[in-house]
Amino acid sequence: MVDFTLTDEQKNLRDLAHDFAEKEIRPVAWEYDKEGTWPQDVIDKAHEVGLMNTHIPEEYGGAGLTYLDGCIIEEELAWGCSGIQTSLGANGLAGAPVGLGGSEEVKKEFFEALAAEPKLASFCLTEPGAGSDVSGMRTKAVKKGDKYVITGQKCFITNGQYADYYTVYAKTDLDAGHRGISAFLVKRDDTIVIDKKEDKMGQRASNTATVTFNETEVDARYLLGEENKGFKLAMMTLDRTRPGVAAMATGIARAAFEFATEYSKERVQFGVPIAMHQAIQFMIADMATKVHLSRLATWNSGVLLDQGKRNTLESSHAKRFAADAAMEVTTDAVQIYGGYGFIKEYPVEKLMRDAKIMQLYEGTSQIQRLVIARETLLPRRVSEPEAVTA
Ligand code: CAA
Repeated sequence: MVDFTLTDEQKNLRDLAHDFAEKEIRPVAWEYDKEGTWPQDVIDKAHEVGLMNTHIPEEYGGAGLTYLDGCIIEEELAWGCSGIQTSLGANGLAGAPVGLGGSEEVKKEFFEALAAEPKLASFCLTEPGAGSDVSGMRTKAVKKGDKYVITGQKCFITNGQYADYYTVYAKTDLDAGHRGISAFLVKRDDTIVIDKKEDKMGQRASNTATVTFNETEVDARYLLGEENKGFKLAMMTLDRTRPGVAAMATGIARAAFEFATEYSKERVQFGVPIAMHQAIQFMIADMATKVHLSRLATWNSGVLLDQGKRNTLESSHAKRFAADAAMEVTTDAVQIYGGYGFIKEYPVEKLMRDAKIMQLYEGTSQIQRLVIARETLLPRRVSEPEAVTA
């Protein structure tokens, strides 16, 4: 049976997240965007009410929510501000490889720390010369006794400047391409230097930094999964987090759709509200369809994970569709506002700027199409979830 009816618990979660977005995020979102303000106050409050680290299992002090629950929450928070939600949600991205590949001892240490206090963790995969092409990374980890020594630079790192922990991907075999990458959980220390905070087009309240590891020593027990199996760990992580990005894109699109719909009922041209003109009605209809289908694809990709099934194809469908839809819907929202849409005093230009990153981070829309084409033409036969040690 196919049924996306939410349970009472899920409706309560949605209401909690919506309420938080309305009271704690929306009132500061446009101001924080303008100044690029770091939303530590919102992070502290979100942690307090349990809207961060939603996937940390209960045994480590987390909420132990499902992937679908996470998608429901992420849509609401991104409806408030996707930049602030990116800051709130980045622990999920950094935590996924720990959940998949960390030892019991490491999971306990890391997850309990995140659950107890509003600490942050960053996912360090991308490098100046290795974006879409992950295996082109140059950061290396050299084994010395019972430690690894990590040297290299990571860029576009969400929360990089404020993180206490980093999940870092590095080459442990320089000549083995994607089969020479390993993943580590690294605690912040003096060898880790923040070189640059990016001045971004959108999501300006989120922190995006360049992080350099200068011979950073990490105990071998912080190796996540097996040595040289880090590439698969990264791919399995992205399978688990792309539904959340799709949910955020849905939240941005919904916000733009709502603003544009309301505006179209108020703005009078040619003697009637512009919502009376079919040209506008068709735009509103297309926006509504795109928001609806984005949510369905997102929930489908999350539910598969909750069922313990591989969702590589579906998470790329969701991420690709919802990201492109968010760009289209926010662009149309600006169009419906006319000249006012181009002015910062009105809400939709921020949403259009915020939507753009949806087509870029956690795999561009082109990379999602690549995954979809490969999965469609040549379905992989990787068993889940054991694939990390395969
Ligand atoms: N699950 C498990 N294993 C997988 C997998 C998956 N989803 N996808 C691939 N693999 C395995 C393959 O089976 C293959 O295994 P073998 O070694 O046994 O052969 C191996 O991984 C290599 O696979 P490919 O040949 O497909 O690898 P590729 O080099 O062609 O790359 C890619 C594929 C899809 C392009 C991948 O590199 C990719 O997703 N790139 C985008 C990276 C990305 O999303 N970066 C975002 C960074 S995070 C971020 O943006 C957040 C932030 O903080 C800003």
